[in-house]
Amino acid sequence: MSSLTEYFTLSNDVQIHKLGFGTWQIPDGDDTYNSVTTALKLGYRHIDTARAYENEASVGRAVRDSGIPREEVFITTKLPAEVKDYDQARATFEESSSLLDLGHVDLYLIHAPWPWAEQGKDYSEGNIAVWTAMEELYDAGRVRSIGVSNFNVADLESLTASTRIRPQVNQIRWFIGNTQDETTAYCEANDILVEGYSPLATGAILDNPQVRKIAEQYGKTVAQVCIRYLLEKDVLPLPKSTTPSRIAENADVDFVLKPEDVTFLDGLTDTTA
Ligand code: A2P
Repeated sequence: MSSLTEYFTLSNDVQIHKLGFGTWQIPDGDDTYNSVTTALKLGYRHIDTARAYENEASVGRAVRDSGIPREEVFITTKLPAEVKDYDQARATFEESSSLLDLGHVDLYLIHAPWPWAEQGKDYSEGNIAVWTAMEELYDAGRVRSIGVSNFNVADLESLTASTRIRPQVNQIRWFIGNTQDETTAYCEANDILVEGYSPLATGAILDNPQVRKIAEQYGKTVAQVCIRYLLEKDVLPLPKSTTPSRIAENADVDFVLKPEDVTFLDGLTDTTA
């Protein structure tokens, strides 16, 4: 077994591959198509996209052309952060669904609790409205699981206080030195799987000498230690790369960090300085 073929089990019993392939900032067209095709050839079976990435069509085409049976691939997409109204949520899902052209979506997330231009503003009512749309999509079998992204504890509490289905996932920015302890503990206590985007701090952690020291002890790269660290914490890593050798390297993480090394990494701060 490897992280590519092992699963976490969501609170609704849906299985999700432990390592996903992120596609944020990968341009639509050949870049996304080729990266996703490479990832699938290397054994990745979990692809993460979003309406806002504007690359869903290329993700869908790569999955269809791979010939891999649909049920063996896990596809996540996200409702744009700016959509906070029920009708628009239903319409936007239909756009994503037809761009992907893969039948059902495996996981559908609210991209953020607020529009990106108004970070921190209270959009509780809007989140409840779009969540109702997501619950209906879930009930209808259009999506196999539903969740949120970039939600903190207060955002989660206000959503779950007034809605029927608890989010099954919260996808947040998560890497060594940025472990979002309060949100992570809350999610763990409430059976919400944490997914970590930017596990390499979008590349900014790769020159960190302390992480490098650990990596050298294992004969691994800094990227591999960063990704492995999330797995040791039961956080689902979503590394991304457009470079085939790195896409392979990022999946070669079936080693175990010693508890004392995990503790050392736990204590690091300013890892991107
Ligand atoms: P590239 O796409 O040119 O390979 P994150 O997943 O934290 O968002 O980080 C993504 C960034 O890190 C991208 O710029 C990607 O560059 C780079 N990257 C991904 N994997 C590796 C790796 N194994 N070694 C070095 N850089 C990597």
